[in-house]
Amino acid sequence: MKVTLSVIKADIGGWVGHCSMHPDLMTEGESCMAKAKKSGLLIDYHVTRCGDDLQFIMTHKKGIDNSKIHEMAWNAFQSCTAVAKKLKLHGAGQDLLSDAFSGNVKGQGPGVAEMELNEREAEPVIIFMADKTASGAWNLPLYEMFCDPFNTIGLVISANMHAGFKFEVHDVKESRRIMFNCPEEIYDMLVFIGAPSRYTVKSVYSRETGEIASTSSTQKLSLIAGRYVGKDDPVCIVRAQGIFPAVGEVLEPFARPHIVEGWMRGSHNGPLTPVSVKGCNPTRFDGPPRVIAAGFQLAEGRLVGPVDMFDDVAFNNARQMAMDMADMLRRHGPFEPHRLPLDEMEYTTMPQVMKKLAKRFEKL
Ligand code: 13P
Ligand code: 13P
Ligand code: MG
Ligand code: MG
Repeated sequence: MKVTLSVIKADIGGWVGHCSMHPDLMTEGESCMAKAKKSGLLIDYHVTRCGDDLQFIMTHKKGIDNSKIHEMAWNAFQSCTAVAKKLKLHGAGQDLLSDAFSGNVKGQGPGVAEMELNEREAEPVIIFMADKTASGAWNLPLYEMFCDPFNTIGLVISANMHAGFKFEVHDVKESRRIMFNCPEEIYDMLVFIGAPSRYTVKSVYSRETGEIASTSSTQKLSLIAGRYVGKDDPVCIVRAQGIFPAVGEVLEPFARPHIVEGWMRGSHNGPLTPVSVKGCNPTRFDGPPRVIAAGFQLAEGRLVGPVDMFDDVAFNNARQMAMDMADMLRRHGPFEPHRLPLDEMEYTTMPQVMKKLAKRFEKL
C-alpha cells in the first residue's frame, strides 16, 4: 500500500521563553488533527513537541506537497497560535512568516519532511526532531547511518545494503541540488556536506531498489525571512530494517554527540544532545541543542507508536558526554568557536559598532 508520511513543524510560541511547550497548544493541535482524521483527510496522526516546536506527524494518501494537507497543517498552527497569544507565550506565531496560506507551507516558515512509500510487510520508521539547531544538523548522522561501516555493520554483512545508498544534497544558498552515489563518491560528497550551514542532505535512497530511505526538512528560516526569527529546528524521517539500516544502526550516531550550530540566539555551536521527549526542555543558555526520536511501525498507514527511542540507559553516556562538551564550549563565552564565525551569526551588532567606531580606526 502507498502511504505518505508527512512531518510538518513550527514554533508558534515558547513556554517559558524558548524552552518548552504549553500543554494547551498540544491539546489544540490534537483537536485539529482529530478533525482532519475524522474528515478522512488523514489516515492517522501523532502530535508531539521538541522543546518549543510543535510537531504534526501525519499519514495520508495524497502524496507529498499536497495543498490540502499543507493548508490543514497551516490552519492548525494558526489555531494553536491563537491559544499561544491568549497565554502571551514567548514569540507566539514565531515561525508563521506570512499572514495567509499560499498553496504550500514550504517557504512560509514551518519545516517540512515528507515521503511517499510502499508500506512493507513491516515498516519501522524513526522520526528525529531537533530543537535549537539548524537544518544541516543531520548531515553527520545520516552519513554515518548510510555510509560508515563502523556505525552500520549492515553495509558490510547484509547483502541487500551492500550496493550502498544515493544521497540528494541541497545547496541551500544557491537553491540547487546534486546526487552522490555512495560509497564510491563519499570523498567528493564530504567536501560539501562537511559544510552543513550551506549544503544539507535532503534525502537518501537505496541503490538496491531505488526506494526512499530518509528525508529531512531543509528550510532555512533566516533565508526565508531575511532576518533572524528563530532557528530551523529540523526534522528527519528514516526507514529501518530490511534494505535499510537496522533501528539500532539508525540510532547509533547519536551515541557520540557532535557539534551543531544553534543554541543561544541561534548564534553558537553546541553538542546535539539525545533526550527523551519528556526531557526535552532546553534550559541552560537556551540549550544545549536537543534531538528526540519517535519510533513507529506503520500498519496500513496507522502510526503504531510512538516508542520514545532515546529514553534508554544506553544513551546516558552520550548525554554526559554532551554536557561535558557544553561546559567546554561555554568556557569560551563570546569567543569562537563557541560563538559562530561573523558571517554565520544570526544576529550581530557589528554594523552599528563598526559605524560608531569607524573614525577611530587608524591606518597601520
Ligand atoms: P532480532 O533477532 O531481535 O529480530 O534482531 C535481528 C537484528 O538484525 C538486529 O539488528
Ligand atoms: P528557537 O529557534 O527554538 O525558538 O530558539 C530561538 C533562540 O534564539 C534561543 O535562544
Ligand atoms: Mg522559540
Ligand atoms: Mg525551537
